[in-house]
Amino acid sequence: MSQTIVNAPSFVKHTKLIAWVAEIAALTQPDRIEWCDGSEEENQRLLDLMVSTGMMRKLNPEKRPNSYLASSDPSDVARVEERTFICSAKREDAGPTNNWEDPAVMRDKLNGLFAGCMRGRTLYVVPFSMGPLGSHIAQIGVELSDSPYVVVNMRIMARMGKAVYDVLGENGNFVPCVHTVGQPILTAADDVKWPCNPEKYIVHYPETREIWSFGSGYGGNALLGKKCLALRIASVMGRDEGWLAEHMLILGVTNPQGEKHYVAAAFPSACGKTNFAMLVPPAGFEGWKIETVGDDIAWLKPGADGRLYAINPEAGFFGVAPGTNTTTNPNCMATLDKNVIFTNVALTDDGDVWWEGLSKTAPAHLIDWTGQDWTPDCGRKAAHPNSRFTVSAGQCPSIDADWENPNGVPISAFIFGGRRGDTMPLVVEATDWQDGVYKAATMGSETTAAAVGQQGVVRRDPFAMLPFCGYHVGDYFAHWLTVGEKLAASGAKLPKIFNVNWFRTDANGKFIWPGFGQNMRVLQWIIDRCENRATGQDTPIGVVPRYEDLSWEGSEFSQELFTAVTSQDKAAWQRELASHDELFSKIADKLPASLKTRRQTLGEKIDV
Ligand code: GTP
Ligand code: SPV
Ligand code: MN
Repeated sequence: MSQTIVNAPSFVKHTKLIAWVAEIAALTQPDRIEWCDGSEEENQRLLDLMVSTGMMRKLNPEKRPNSYLASSDPSDVARVEERTFICSAKREDAGPTNNWEDPAVMRDKLNGLFAGCMRGRTLYVVPFSMGPLGSHIAQIGVELSDSPYVVVNMRIMARMGKAVYDVLGENGNFVPCVHTVGQPILTAADDVKWPCNPEKYIVHYPETREIWSFGSGYGGNALLGKKCLALRIASVMGRDEGWLAEHMLILGVTNPQGEKHYVAAAFPSACGKTNFAMLVPPAGFEGWKIETVGDDIAWLKPGADGRLYAINPEAGFFGVAPGTNTTTNPNCMATLDKNVIFTNVALTDDGDVWWEGLSKTAPAHLIDWTGQDWTPDCGRKAAHPNSRFTVSAGQCPSIDADWENPNGVPISAFIFGGRRGDTMPLVVEATDWQDGVYKAATMGSETTAAAVGQQGVVRRDPFAMLPFCGYHVGDYFAHWLTVGEKLAASGAKLPKIFNVNWFRTDANGKFIWPGFGQNMRVLQWIIDRCENRATGQDTPIGVVPRYEDLSWEGSEFSQELFTAVTSQDKAAWQRELASHDELFSKIADKLPASLKTRRQTLGEKIDV
């Protein structure tokens, strides 16, 4: 396809952008180019197109108005960390936790893979803003993709469409994102409903701020504004410009006296961010209110008053379906009433959706996520464990009035939480910023279905950013320490830092802590600690509440069970420290000296 038939519409005035589209079209050879405007008409047309090709199914409008179900190829269901690359000019800038390849070698490789990859397909030009349109904190991206699924999902997850071009003008900055499902050319006999390629590459060039993605049509691999731009590339921007891009939810908590705090919390993938962000206070917490700013990503910048302000760069939720129900997350269920794209959940006989945990008893018959008949005794899961919904954040009943405030919301506390069956207590407070950075840096968590690979294995997941930090993790720790020092120097009160763990299990492998709404009890303690109103107990690992330090109104959780979720086992902690050492030895020379010192002090306290 030659440059002359790129046919940019008149609302696109950015000559470099048009030239880049022409260049990518010349490489990928699409049959046609569609410049997306984000309109309702365009969205409906693409949804209808996907229904006609079998990629999506329209759900029963009486049960679930304006909602669709997409079923992916069974091999394309999650992020592919092994195939994700940070191609910095120097290997050491990617660090020990990222896959690295020489950018020149990678460009050669990708040029080969992308050559002609869109033949027979449409190239969609998808302009988007991460953060409110035109705001000083927003970043513009343009994704070129041959997947209509990407277009309709990006329209929900980001501010997507024509208005982005007004912000870009004739020469505004944007992050170029190139994506293909990499489907080999179809023959008439092929019946491919979800195109993809067994070979996958999710590639980031941090210095030139470019993203190239080959072979997957799913979630974080394909919706390039999300993990690729808003975390991997943005983390590099943050390092260079003095701010933070984090895998964090943001929520507001108001007590019965009307005092409001915002907290930001990092839990690894499928470890509870969406649920915590939409928490409904339980019985006994009348007058308390939780409001949602974001459920997955936070960009945090120091404000003029020396506090950290957080924005949610996204416009929608791409959340985990299994486990979501009217008891665990009623706000989420209400959000999902209409205008939803579901991916890889099961289909009911009356044209609605179902997933494990939605109801106590499963329907007698379903079509499972792979398209097969399913009955409760068939021995298979009906929905994929990483099945998801895509929905606008504005539809959430608990959405915060300031969720689109371009200046963000001031953060009082950071919370870091892993999925740990043992060792980590329900909650522990760091003694200061450095100690908090140590705790976040050494966080461990069991792997989940959100990424391809073995599940339930404890690995170090620093700051819940292991798969998302776009540069050397040692430099990232140093950056966090520097941000804290700068905030402290301005005289403002630093956010306090806490670790939580909702996932301690008993001898039968059952969760001991009831979680979900009950997490409010821990959140109250956290807020009260920030206000110096709550007491706790000094332990070798930090301040932990005693049973009587939490409010148990409306709860029957016993002192004995509380001990089971807060106890510290010396042998377990010695093993834990050994695994901190393993991480630190990989970071080697880039490990900030103060974290090394913290490790020593902690070891001494635990050995006593
Ligand atoms: P990503 O979207 O992958 O980043 O996940 P997330 O961190 O937003 O996790 P999410 O809130 O979607 O929760 C993932 C799974 O953990 C779901 O199956 C939830 O039902 C379950 N979960 C969330 N919070 C709790 C909790 O407090 N206790 C228990 N036991 N399970 C929880
Ligand atoms: C995660 O895996 O942390 C997600 C889903 O939020 S994805 O968009 O696939 O990254
Ligand atoms: Mn996530």
